[in-house]
Amino acid sequence: MGKFQVIDHPLIQHKLTIIRDKNSGTKVFREVVDEIAMLMAYEISRDLPVEEVEIETPMMKSVQKQLAGKKVAIIPILRAGLGMVDGILQLIPAAKVGHVGLYRDEETLEPHEYFVKLPDDITSRQLLVVDPMLATGGSAVMAIDALKKRGASNIKFVCLVAAPEGVKVLQEAHPDVDIYTAALDDRLNENGYIVPGLGDAGDRLFGTK
Ligand code: URA
Repeated sequence: MGKFQVIDHPLIQHKLTIIRDKNSGTKVFREVVDEIAMLMAYEISRDLPVEEVEIETPMMKSVQKQLAGKKVAIIPILRAGLGMVDGILQLIPAAKVGHVGLYRDEETLEPHEYFVKLPDDITSRQLLVVDPMLATGGSAVMAIDALKKRGASNIKFVCLVAAPEGVKVLQEAHPDVDIYTAALDDRLNENGYIVPGLGDAGDRLFGTK
């Protein structure tokens, strides 16, 4: 089973409280999502491999460390996942960005792919699939299906708020995928919203209703 980690650094907890507050408007919501995503990227990148490299300081030749191994790609699930991309790019600026768009069939409630555009070397990259809310898990599972179908294998899922139901669904469908969240909330309500949650992440990020 992949790792499940709640990244509950005090700064992240504080910022999460700000975005949960219904009185925080679009500008604040967007800025703070960005900040939380950056802080999460710091923790998630902790196990990136490093290698030794010889450089010359102004004083002498010296063997030091640099990042090695797999390069990173960030894959936001449209639309709310877009809100987490810039924050992660602040720490991993060379990351490529792919997009996965899904829609939910009104009748069957099943998600379907409508847009998938990925870097052509996803099979050799560490992929960070990002979506602020892990609710039913349906979109996360389908997005990761879409990536695996195209050869990806090294995948971490990063969200801000997770429901226990979604974590279970994702772990069962993709036991190889590590899941990182800033908070594990109580449950889903009857409309599929996470409670206490923060409402509709896409609407709050983009100022729609
Ligand atoms: N998507 C959201 O934006 N919010 C939820 O609470 C659940 C799914």
